[in-house]
Amino acid sequence: MKIKIAPSILSADFGDLNAEIEEIQSHCDQIHVDVMDGHFVPNITIGAPVVACLTTALPLNTHLMIENPMDFVEDFVKAGSDRIVIHVEAVDDLRAAIEEINSMDVESGVSIKPGTPVSEIKDVLDIIDEVLVMTVEPGFGGQSFMEDMVPKITELRELGFEGDIGIDGGINAETAKICSDAGANLLIAGSYIFGAKDRVDAIYSLKD
Ligand code: DX5
Ligand code: ZN
Repeated sequence: MKIKIAPSILSADFGDLNAEIEEIQSHCDQIHVDVMDGHFVPNITIGAPVVACLTTALPLNTHLMIENPMDFVEDFVKAGSDRIVIHVEAVDDLRAAIEEINSMDVESGVSIKPGTPVSEIKDVLDIIDEVLVMTVEPGFGGQSFMEDMVPKITELRELGFEGDIGIDGGINAETAKICSDAGANLLIAGSYIFGAKDRVDAIYSLKD
């Protein structure tokens, strides 16, 4: 499966997002947009008005780390999100939520926190484009990779899931390789890319 790179703008300069994205976009496949509400996770980032100001032509993959995500999905779709990823822990009826996202003509995905087993999302694997396996507790960039999450990647492929398996948290050249060897194909990295002296070199080291 082709490896795709999605820089997380959480570690970019929020005062100059379009320029930050411009610098790296020709080497990447999509942009990972982290949305946090201070409730689902103990941190706050950006909302749909900021997403609407992003000028990149790359697909925007929006990772909603918020309570009641379905109240906001339409706003993010209107703001230009191409894929909406919600957390299974944030909704009561996951299948209904995904069906609603799919009906809005965008791609859908489900993310699982480190404490959530793959079995929680088994029933929706047939209707989603992505599973986003968190390899840190969501909320902050720059945390250490949790290697004990890797079996979830293997399990998803063993279940026959053929969509994107994204991995998010603590991804660098070394941890990216561990995950792609296990079957992940969508590598999300924030601090590793935006914190690097040479961001393009960092991106290519993820692909190796
Ligand atoms: C964490 C976010 C990540 C974050 C990853 O809750 O979902 O996307 O930006 O940051 P790094 O790559 O620095 O671990
Ligand atoms: Zn994320």
